[in-house]
Amino acid sequence: MSILRISHLSLSLGGQQILDGINFNVEEGEVIGVIGPNGSGKTTLFNVLSGFLKPSHGTIHFCDKDITSYSASERARLGIGRVFQNFGIFRDMTLEENVLVALEALPKERRKALGNIKEVVKGTLAMVGLSQFAKRKAGSLSGGQMRLLEIARTLKAEKQLFLLDEPTAGVSPKMTSQIADLISELKREKKTVLIVEHDLPFISKICDRVIVLDVGKIVLTGKPQEVKQSKELQEIYFGANPAD
Ligand SMILES: Nc1ncnc2c1ncn2[C@@H]1O[C@H](COP(=O)(O)OP(=O)(O)OP(=O)(O)O)[C@@H](O)[C@H]1O
Ligand SMILES: [Mg+2]
Repeated sequence: MSILRISHLSLSLGGQQILDGINFNVEEGEVIGVIGPNGSGKTTLFNVLSGFLKPSHGTIHFCDKDITSYSASERARLGIGRVFQNFGIFRDMTLEENVLVALEALPKERRKALGNIKEVVKGTLAMVGLSQFAKRKAGSLSGGQMRLLEIARTLKAEKQLFLLDEPTAGVSPKMTSQIADLISELKREKKTVLIVEHDLPFISKICDRVIVLDVGKIVLTGKPQEVKQSKELQEIYFGANPAD
């Protein structure tokens, strides 16, 4: 089943066409890489999918429901999780408290179904290798550790679709591989992930499919290997095929 169906999605802002007739379907459990040059509309697409921007045209279906007119919080409740860059973490709270806050935001019956909340908090921090910092303030973490904490929190909030915008930006290579592991874990749990990244080797390693945006249009889709070797990609990024 397609968990996400995007049809004829367009957005213009200030007279500029930012997204231009985007069509694509995402199957449940797929990990999709969204790549493209700076300013091609990747973050804007995520803003439209998570409900922070309203499209000028087109529709978005999530789990067969037309969510085009839904607010960001309604979409979050339905199971669309967005991971922001160093945002959403409460720096003055401990790591434990940060996870707890996310769990407390769950509807009562879902929270109950998780069992012992203390154990869930422990397990969440252990999953991302941050147990030893449980009592520390989140503000003391490195950028990469905060990113892991945020992904873990979103994961525990029982989302089905994750939108990750440059999760490895400014993150050490060790942390990058931990983030890759975490995304593989999401995949094992049949979660669906859309991920914006500039790091092509990272994308190739973890994604089932890649979508290339250029000036607000999808110009290429395919398996990572196909996309990486395509002439079009070279042209988009470098303006010419270096082999010519
Ligand atoms: N609120 C806004 N009003 C007007 N134009 C905007 C607005 N937000 C983004 N844009 C423009 O939309 C285009 C796409 O921006 P967007 O941030 O989606 O690109 P991106 O692909 O995420 O780029 P990057 O790789 O640099 O993160 C850019 O030309 C940007 O200037
Ligand atoms: Mg962006």
